[in-house]
Amino acid sequence: MSLVQQLGEAVRAIESRTKLRPTVGVVLGSGLGAFARSLDKPVTIPYREIPHFPASTAVGHAGELVVGTAGGVPVAVMAGRVHGYEGYRLEQVVFPVRVLGRFGVRILVLTNAAGSVNVNYKPGELMVIDDHINYMGTNPLIGPNDDELGPRFFDMSEAYDPGLRQIAEKACWKAGVPVRHGVYIAFTGPSYETPAEIRMCRTLGADAVGMSTVPEVIAARHMGIRVLAISCITNMAAGVLKQKLDHREVLEVGERAAAGLMDVLGRIIQDAAKQA
Ligand code: HPA
Repeated sequence: MSLVQQLGEAVRAIESRTKLRPTVGVVLGSGLGAFARSLDKPVTIPYREIPHFPASTAVGHAGELVVGTAGGVPVAVMAGRVHGYEGYRLEQVVFPVRVLGRFGVRILVLTNAAGSVNVNYKPGELMVIDDHINYMGTNPLIGPNDDELGPRFFDMSEAYDPGLRQIAEKACWKAGVPVRHGVYIAFTGPSYETPAEIRMCRTLGADAVGMSTVPEVIAARHMGIRVLAISCITNMAAGVLKQKLDHREVLEVGERAAAGLMDVLGRIIQDAAKQA
């Protein structure tokens, strides 16, 4: 079965469960699932009930699609994502984003937990991603191009939509949540980086480091979907402080920051929907 046929089956499964046809999609990262639970009139579809969907295995990732409304605006929210480090091919990692695109999403808001490479940022702050460095050594679009989804070669010079970035900064400002903006660098994980790698990241011009988002942004841009991505800074990256990195701490800080992020996401969706 071709990729487009698989996407079609997944989209039909979702369409049979809800009458809503959102133009805004959201992907929630580690420990950031609270927003999905705040939607009105939610229809919750576990990933295992959507054909060809990869199942999430990471702790802190729920693995369900919630379609509902936020302040009256229809949204499709992926609570939990899958990562390359779980053993999925990047083509599988980006499958849910492609489904959202075929379902009609024109604006995608991605969130993640990230470590701060920039010594001036603090855990609990949000960072609007201005640009990324793909340090995963691979790309989800390697292989034959599906012209029905997008072109073989495409521009990534404004991968993170300037208008949406402005909306996000304004939303943080209004919500009273400290906000930064900067460059996100993606590693495959699952090991956290070494202090030497983090010094390299700083030299390369990165502000935050993580293990997700970049493949999804690439797949979304391939389809012409406008992208906004926000990192929740959950920890200082390796070597910045004396202490060691702990996944539980990453989840805990993520959960505490999730309250602010929920408020911010609600505001972003209101403003972004006017442009979708
Ligand atoms: N490194 C990579 N990924 C992360 C980190 C980190 O320090 N924190 C949260 N996700």
